[in-house]
Amino acid sequence: MKMRFNTEDAFALRIENSIQENVSLTNYNTFRFDYLAEYFAIADSLDGLKALLAWAKHFKQAVTIIGGGSNLLISADITGLVIINRLTGISSREQAGNLVSLTVSSGENWHQVVKHVVEQGWYGIENLALIPGTAGAAPVQNIGAYGVEIKDVLARVQVINRKTGDVYWINGRDCGFAYRDSHFKGQWKDLLIITCVELSLKKRSELLLSYGGLSDRIEGKASLQSVFDTVCHVRSEKLPDPSLLANSGSFFKNPIVNSAQHHKLKEQFPNLVSFPFDENFKLAAGWLIEQAGWKGKHYQGVGVYDKQALVLVNHSETKAVPLLELEAQIKQSIWNRYGVKLEREPVQLPLETEEH
Ligand code: EPU
Repeated sequence: MKMRFNTEDAFALRIENSIQENVSLTNYNTFRFDYLAEYFAIADSLDGLKALLAWAKHFKQAVTIIGGGSNLLISADITGLVIINRLTGISSREQAGNLVSLTVSSGENWHQVVKHVVEQGWYGIENLALIPGTAGAAPVQNIGAYGVEIKDVLARVQVINRKTGDVYWINGRDCGFAYRDSHFKGQWKDLLIITCVELSLKKRSELLLSYGGLSDRIEGKASLQSVFDTVCHVRSEKLPDPSLLANSGSFFKNPIVNSAQHHKLKEQFPNLVSFPFDENFKLAAGWLIEQAGWKGKHYQGVGVYDKQALVLVNHSETKAVPLLELEAQIKQSIWNRYGVKLEREPVQLPLETEEH
């Protein structure tokens, strides 16, 4: 494709065949919003990714990386280069004792990784089955479900520095993991791209069944396979399959309040659903939203999912405007009713960035 850059440049010539201009991102975000990437390329190897980053640096173009696109809210065209991460490869190393170390390239589909691990009989991520997206996106928001978060098993993350092209490893404990949060969503968002994750799994382990909705559903003696199957089952009952109904999973985080506020809310709303969380309490945002009357509501072509009020869905819109309006209305209503601020969970694109 003819680019507006100087094609005499040998470097541009080498790489430009893999870059397209003005490509719709509809198929690269599970909300299926139709915005354009100014420049667009798919990276299927580390060298390919490095070359694309070098191209972007050379031509002073901002870079946006998309994995499975399942935790994204794209709300405008994206200037600069959008790279779709399709880095693949899985390898394992049995350690002495009970441990297995699993190295997964960041473009691998997360659920396929979980399935593979369960088939091998290894423990640690069975509760995280059927979460959409890629292995590389999993640490960004510290994916979690049924009492397990990826930080619990994440030994190291391999990254590439967008500016220098250096590739190196960062220990899991240094990634700033918190509830649905990490430095990859914060201070590193413009700097580092995850290329690989290394998980520390176990050959024998206890199963984690403390999450109510899970243990209640397992019949008989729980096994690795039955936990995996039950998680898949519970999730498919409550959460819409993005290939059938566009969505990005939980749209809001479960808000955390201190015990004084929790006490006050509990007096006013005796059925409030909440869980102790460190010194504080985590409120079930799905409950707050449902009780405020939003569950199943439609607003233009978007709405609140009728089986899980924490999930916003896109029935028919091509642009994000109605969804942003619905979000604002829900936030206002939850604030008015409970004095609680809801925070959005998915990452919004374009990123607000200084880099150009
Ligand atoms: N609830 C309602 N109405 C609703 C939804 C929930 O009353 O419409 C109440 C119920 O009492 C239920 C409780 O909220 O028992 C908790 O609901 P659920 O088990 O569905 O979990 P959640 O807190 O709504 C979180 C995660 C999910 C994860 C599940 C299971 C967040 C933001 N979401 O949802 O993660 O699958 O727990 O562990 O923490 C995601 O991040 O995209 C996601 C789907």
